[in-house]
Amino acid sequence: MDDGMRLRAVPFKVTHPERIAAKRYYDPGFFELEREHLWPHVWQMACRLEEIPSLGDWVEYRILQKSVIIVRTQSGVKAFHNACRHRGMALAQGRGNCKNGGFVCPFHGWRYNMNGENIFVFGRQIFSEANLIQAELALAACRAELWAGCVFINFDDRAPSLQEGLGPMAARLNARNVDQLKVDAWVAAELPVNWKLAMEAFMEGYHTMRTHPQLQALVPPDVRFASQTPKAPTPQRQMTSRDYIHNLVRLLAKLRVGMNGLVTQEEVAVAESLKDIELPADVGAAFAVFFERFNDEVTKRGRDRGLPVFDLNQVAATHKYIGVEFVFPNFFLLPQYSAMSAYRIRPLGPESCLFEIWSLSFAPEGEARPRPEAPDPKPWDDPGFPEVARQDFSNLPPQQRGLHAGGFQFMRLSPSIEGLISNYQRLLDGYLAGIEPARLAAASGIVNSGFDAPILDIGI
Ligand code: FES
Ligand SMILES: [Fe+2]
Repeated sequence: MDDGMRLRAVPFKVTHPERIAAKRYYDPGFFELEREHLWPHVWQMACRLEEIPSLGDWVEYRILQKSVIIVRTQSGVKAFHNACRHRGMALAQGRGNCKNGGFVCPFHGWRYNMNGENIFVFGRQIFSEANLIQAELALAACRAELWAGCVFINFDDRAPSLQEGLGPMAARLNARNVDQLKVDAWVAAELPVNWKLAMEAFMEGYHTMRTHPQLQALVPPDVRFASQTPKAPTPQRQMTSRDYIHNLVRLLAKLRVGMNGLVTQEEVAVAESLKDIELPADVGAAFAVFFERFNDEVTKRGRDRGLPVFDLNQVAATHKYIGVEFVFPNFFLLPQYSAMSAYRIRPLGPESCLFEIWSLSFAPEGEARPRPEAPDPKPWDDPGFPEVARQDFSNLPPQQRGLHAGGFQFMRLSPSIEGLISNYQRLLDGYLAGIEPARLAAASGIVNSGFDAPILDIGI
């Protein structure tokens, strides 16, 4: 049967790829459609494997009203829908270990082991046999797959596998040993904006000039808005290559502080140690020479310390570098040199969302590490958030307000560098319309092309 025969109508649909209707960010009906047709069908980053390092460790993942328990069992990581088979009580909240005690329902004391099997019904004799069929008393399993050091879950048994929807982005991050990264910091912010608006603040570098002026100079001189603003002055052109590199080294340190990670302490030290190496006079050539040495040193020193560092120069030669990688629908990985940051954005309501930030880096193999614990969310303007995040967050509430303003119908996107916003929004429409899952997965592989992408034909 042709898709066209059973597609649902999508309100505020993206019909012009450079225009996104404002109502998609606050209309309660649209939010309900996402709740019904998007979230139950997509692979969602549910936890990091580090959160469940030992046998029996479990952690709860919530998305809107749904809750899932992810457990490390003898036969791998499993996920269960978080509802007691008696009267539906949520069995577990937060995190814990069930190796010895299993899961005990707080309501009437039914018990489950780590494999989800029911091992105890208090007062069995008071129930009908038909309601005590052993297989039916087991916790309902939820699909779970591993990638990038994380557990992803999907409520849809018909959805294609996680890997089928990742696209070429997965190889770019696998080359950087993404699955070996460990958590240095984890923070969470509650933002009074739609989850999509929060994500879109990280989908283009176009805002760097105005929002993060302190980072603007980090962009290599030949790359910066080359096609967008051909006549823009590039002050670095007048700098000597030495000044330019010194400036970059200062900025790396600033980036580390501003992102509370992304660049490691060791990398800042490497950059410092190399800032006076011999450099060509041309700024662009100096940039290349400097970073080749830097990459070598970061690789070598990291390996000397027993870190699972990839060869930075080799990966630079064989894989495209994209500073902000997007994993549809709501996860980001931001590779820098050897380290990364990660973002996950979950809806709480039509105009509120939870924004989490992880700072990730390599740790010596086999090093004992604490089990990272989900942070309590703080208000978006908490002064404790890293500077760069605060700058991005500060734009969001006024933008959400602006979307409600009279006369504002749609966002207008640059087709060359704001394309990711259009691409993923059109894929969202594909879910809302009910397009066939295999086509959605294929489109997702195209959508996951990272920030500053152009508007792409995603095939739906
Ligand atoms: S709801 Fe769990 S034992 Fe009754
Ligand atoms: Fe930003």
